[in-house]
Amino acid sequence: MILVTENIGGKWIDELKKKFAVTIEPDLWKSPDKIKALLPKCRALIVRNQTRVNADLLSAAAQLQVIGRAGAGLDNIEVPAATARGIVVASTPDQNSISVAELTLALILALARKLPAADRHAKNGGWERRRFVGAELYGKNFGVVGLGRIGFLTALRARALGMNILAHDAYISPDAVAASETRAQLMEMDTLLARADFVSCHMPLTPETQHFFNYDRFCRMKPSAFFLNLARGEVADENGLIRALQEKRIAGAALDVREKEPPAPGPLEEMENVILTPHIAAFTREAQERVVAAVCHDVAAVLEGRAAKNFVNFPKPNPSSPKGGGNQ
Ligand code: MLT
Repeated sequence: MILVTENIGGKWIDELKKKFAVTIEPDLWKSPDKIKALLPKCRALIVRNQTRVNADLLSAAAQLQVIGRAGAGLDNIEVPAATARGIVVASTPDQNSISVAELTLALILALARKLPAADRHAKNGGWERRRFVGAELYGKNFGVVGLGRIGFLTALRARALGMNILAHDAYISPDAVAASETRAQLMEMDTLLARADFVSCHMPLTPETQHFFNYDRFCRMKPSAFFLNLARGEVADENGLIRALQEKRIAGAALDVREKEPPAPGPLEEMENVILTPHIAAFTREAQERVVAAVCHDVAAVLEGRAAKNFVNFPKPNPSSPKGGGNQ
């Protein structure tokens, strides 16, 4: 059986159903015990970002061969635990990057031109144009933190609008293509914070990046600057952000991701200079088509004894793994 524990469907899943028994339970991610009870019967598991695939869950994975992650981030999957059991982990690293980059640009423009507030104002019959004087992006400094695929595509688009690209990435070499193609100036984090008009976070969530953006770092930004997070909520300390916004240390923020999803309503929901979206960066028809196609391709490949394309650990189950579980 292939178990799908989140809301994933469409023609590629229908194709998968022609060859395999597929059980789709869109809300199952909320009940880890139920997943654990079903797991002994599963040869494949397909998830988005909400199912916590940890060592405890995988202890029930007697015949699991592949975990398909429909998305890029791997923070909800304990890859070493899967590897130890010989289970292939396949993700879709590049399939939604364009959509995330495009939403980042949309949010930068929306912040600069106060679009949500202007929209509400006009719909309520208002016409006070002076209240919505915004700022041009042309000539402004776009600070991208994490110049991976999404950071790169975002920076390219910001460049096309005439922005100067400032970048910080602890793992990039100065001659990297991403830096030269975007004409990004690579710099230390504090320098970027001091100079950027927009600071956009595109780092994965890892133990090192948790709460990377904290109150201290927000205070190092310009009071006129905006913070954007379309990566993972836990990379930014939400309480620190709220405090920085309340004290007017920064001008505003746009968040597509939250520390807890879905979040409990709090001060951010009340702030006029904060734009919130419900983790929709990857949710375009095009990106979802590519994501689901890629994950279904890899799951079918592994179950049919072929190699996965976008494997994270190994392309086929590893039957010689010490704890077994791979190819039974
Ligand atoms: C991703 O990691 O690909 C995006 O955040 C979307 C998702 O997690 O489903």
